[in-house]
Amino acid sequence: MNEFRSDLNASDEADIAALVTRTGVFNAEEVAIARDLVTETRAKAPGADYLFLIADGVTHVDGYTCYGRIPGTDNRYELYWIAVDPDSHRHGLGRALLEASECDVRRRGGTHLFAETSTRDDYAPARRFYTANGYVCYAEVPDFHADGDGLAIFGKRL
Ligand SMILES: CC(C)(COP(=O)(O)OP(=O)(O)OC[C@H]1O[C@@H](n2cnc3c(N)ncnc32)[C@H](O)[C@@H]1OP(=O)(O)O)[C@@H](O)C(=O)NCCC(=O)NCCS
Repeated sequence: MNEFRSDLNASDEADIAALVTRTGVFNAEEVAIARDLVTETRAKAPGADYLFLIADGVTHVDGYTCYGRIPGTDNRYELYWIAVDPDSHRHGLGRALLEASECDVRRRGGTHLFAETSTRDDYAPARRFYTANGYVCYAEVPDFHADGDGLAIFGKRL
């Protein structure tokens, strides 16, 4: 059973920005968003809007999730971020982080977890990952992010 850290510390802004950069699929603006969510969350009461689970490696953050309740919904949650260091891919860390996040959402009364991703080829691992973890692709919106880069909306009833 993995133990993940849910509290954020001062080095997480840089560590999480570096981690999402290392995955190679996110653009600079997306990396900045990932970093800003850490900054914003550290400045507020813990668990206010965005919840985090962090997998600490020996020298850096190996993986993390960021998720939260979707405002205005009946306990639907969204997985905003999941990333695992490429050196650790296919060793079950992503699944462990996702399952721990689902468990936390359930504990908070959440009934569904949704995850948005891209239809681009370099996101095929992410789409296979969601499917392998029981998520259904409910919808695709062509050209949502850019021409040829659509939106894929996955979800799971917990
Ligand atoms: C998606 C991601 C988090 C998966 O992390 P991971 O630790 O490698 O995943 P796991 O080892 O837990 O994989 C669990 C299962 O998902 C599926 N899966 C994961 N990566 C896959 C790949 N590259 N190709 C095919 N299936 C894959 C497999 O069924 C796998 O089980 P198996 O290894 O026993 O066959 C990781 O690839 C990542 O960080 N990608 C970049 C960021 C990203 O795309 N995030 C999500 C979109 S916003």
